[in-house]
Amino acid sequence: MHELETRHYVAGEFVAGDATPLVVVNPATDAPLATIVGASAALATRAAEANAAATREMRVLSTLKRVELVRRLAAGIRSNGVQLAALLTSESGKPIVESRGEVEYAASFFENAAAAAEVAAGELPASRVADRRVLVLREPIGATVAITPWNFPLAMIARKLAPALAAGCSQVVKPAEETPLTALAFARIYEQVARETGAPMAAFSVVIGDPPTVAGALISHPSTRKLSFTGSTEVGRILAAQCAPRLIKTALELGGNAPFIVFADADLDRAVEQAMLSKFRFMGQTCICANRFLLAASIADEFLARLEARVRALATAIGDPTLESTRMGPLINDAALAKVEAHVADAIARGARLRVGGKRREVAGFSRRFYEPTILSHTDPSMLCACEETFGPVVAAMTFHSEAEAIVLANAVPYGLAGYVMTQDADRLLRVVESLDFGVIGANDGAPSTAEAPFGGRKDSGLGKEGGTHGLDAYTDLKYVSLRVRPQ
Ligand code: SIN
Repeated sequence: MHELETRHYVAGEFVAGDATPLVVVNPATDAPLATIVGASAALATRAAEANAAATREMRVLSTLKRVELVRRLAAGIRSNGVQLAALLTSESGKPIVESRGEVEYAASFFENAAAAAEVAAGELPASRVADRRVLVLREPIGATVAITPWNFPLAMIARKLAPALAAGCSQVVKPAEETPLTALAFARIYEQVARETGAPMAAFSVVIGDPPTVAGALISHPSTRKLSFTGSTEVGRILAAQCAPRLIKTALELGGNAPFIVFADADLDRAVEQAMLSKFRFMGQTCICANRFLLAASIADEFLARLEARVRALATAIGDPTLESTRMGPLINDAALAKVEAHVADAIARGARLRVGGKRREVAGFSRRFYEPTILSHTDPSMLCACEETFGPVVAAMTFHSEAEAIVLANAVPYGLAGYVMTQDADRLLRVVESLDFGVIGANDGAPSTAEAPFGGRKDSGLGKEGGTHGLDAYTDLKYVSLRVRPQ
């Protein structure tokens, strides 16, 4: 891979920014990694125009060519995987082992979208009328915009871009200001693959800058037909309002507040294993991380004792995220740290009990953003750690006495992204799965994310699904053609 790229990728070339500079900082060390001169509204508009022009080229590109482009992007990600993972760790603080996993996750979105595009087909439903044929054509929806978060600097671009390209659309991506370097490194890969395959060089663009300025220019461009956003519910609402006047399609993957329910009949070792996966992935900074642990009262102490042993072991692996042995790095920024500290302090002040953790960890020579994995028991739904998404390494545990109570507690939040249920009773498993008002369910599974599944939430967690064949559908519009056939 090339040296660090700090320019925007617009209209098939790398161009210098023309607005306020932003410094990308390593959250583990506070070291500045690069300065990016941000994009003005004018530069973002240029990207939107190139996006519109490229979508006309993408529309006529054969399926074979689109599939080749998307497959080659997966291969490009893999062959640059070592450098991409290192860059991802340096700008996000993600432990290197997890960054490698994210590189693989990103490549899998491209492979999955290519496979879905290969078999995508229109329809020819039986007509009720003898001289009419009903043709249903699948067409790309056109020029699209993606706004991606810092917690998955590569995989969330992949989740949105792969189906867009596979369906024959173009896309401008605005990555998070915290983590733009991975996006730009990926743009280098795109540039090379597009050149080699003869695909439109401008079917993908990356612009970085002040979010309202850049997002505003991209959304308000008359050619933009779809916005896909992953981020907070608050920002999702603002973006949806901006899309509303022109009825731009939206896919919004917003905040969560995932319940992790453990019934008395669960295999407790397995439940603890899944809890560790669900809670401590990227230090709790994913939208589907378990937030509220709902434990059957009869097993709560035993579950927490076993979990505590695992958490104490995890706490020995906090440190430099570039090391293979590290399992927990820093939180992304000071605001994230302050939120975790505020949630823990609020819970303790209101009567929760701290079993382990609950404080920052000094790591010599590194930033102050390392926080110990934490377990709070005796929490209740009024506490901040239960009614808001902590987005950090904090287990907030409370108990229930019946299946019905567990379901009520689980659903009693405005969010509906992911929920988890641990039980060995097949009937109960199905009953609870069907009762949970969430878009993604981990049934005895703490790590449900995978490229082939439709991913997305309900209620305040957003609209639309991404991934799998549904991901491709989200970038496709159906056109009905009524064809009259003259009898002989
Ligand atoms: C997210 O946190 O936004 C995505 C999580 C995932 O894909 O697993």
